[in-house]
Amino acid sequence: MANMKRIAELAGVSLGTVSHVLNGTARVREPLRERVLNAVHETGYQPSQLARGLRRDKTNILAMIVPDILNPFFPGVVRGAEDVAFANGFRLVLCNTDNDHKKELVHLNALQTYLPSGLIVIPSDFSDLTAQAESYRKSGAAVVCVDRLPRNWAGDSVTSDNAVGAFNATSYLIDLGHRRLAVITGPLHLTNSQDRLKGFKRAVRQAGLEIAPAYAQEATFDRAGGYAKTKILLRLLPRPTAILACNDMIALGALMAVREEKLNCPDDISIIGFDGLDVTETTTPQLSSVYQSSYQLGAEAVQLALDRFADTSSPVRHIVLKTELKIRESVAPPPKLESANGTGSAKRLRLAAVRA
Ligand code: RIB
Repeated sequence: MANMKRIAELAGVSLGTVSHVLNGTARVREPLRERVLNAVHETGYQPSQLARGLRRDKTNILAMIVPDILNPFFPGVVRGAEDVAFANGFRLVLCNTDNDHKKELVHLNALQTYLPSGLIVIPSDFSDLTAQAESYRKSGAAVVCVDRLPRNWAGDSVTSDNAVGAFNATSYLIDLGHRRLAVITGPLHLTNSQDRLKGFKRAVRQAGLEIAPAYAQEATFDRAGGYAKTKILLRLLPRPTAILACNDMIALGALMAVREEKLNCPDDISIIGFDGLDVTETTTPQLSSVYQSSYQLGAEAVQLALDRFADTSSPVRHIVLKTELKIRESVAPPPKLESANGTGSAKRLRLAAVRA
């Protein structure tokens, strides 16, 4: 308040005029407006966002909830979100749930007291967040779900085309000649895990194959999950010749298990991950993966929230981003096909397949 008085004195205007210029509550004619802005500059005045928020019932804060900040996929989503928030004069407040729904509820309740203009949430599980979202909306905040959806979700959302991504990867393996396929899904209470499994199954069905239940393992979306479930798959008889790992962390764990069993990827077993993390280019062999843009997921989500904040009555939007299959060194035709062909080293066959 003392600062606003000083600005008013310096600019030679009333306190009310200063307030109108700072809060945009009324048009102030030039050159009065310019005098106020010069005085603001001279005093280095920084208005309290909280105080402004209390007056307007909204701050320039966007709240964001992510499930696992240690997974290298999610910082990409946050980066995209922050870039768009920053470009529009908003600040992002970030919370991590550790995939724990109870912690998610604590964050959801607490964040609302910051009077955010929007909430971007990557749900921790398949719980129903309808009531929480409704409460945010009633307070005038926009709500957008990203990457996976809660149960009964009827609001704005941004996801990747998970089913198509998994279908394309599985079809690629089938076209290479693989018949003994396995899949390691993420937690099946997450909609993106369900969709990836659907894509896998559709490709298998379309090729007229049957996969015994033991060849579909559910894991946590991390390296430990991928490692443990690959160990189980490698003990099955007949052993699978290819694994679709439903995220890259699972695929990294699978690679570890394969190496530990003294098997070779891809000569003995092919692996395709999902996400397309940068780290997949640094492994030996380089990991093939279904790329999805974590950055774009975050960027689109914040844009959607800002659009919704500006216009609450426009129709609900579901943005679905395309995925892209990136084939690197971790896939080859199945070993059986090589010996049947009798055409020499696995490496040569692999290169031929990748070129084709
Ligand atoms: O790696 C994290 C996974 O969980 C990603 O595939 C992403 O889609 C998320 O839901």
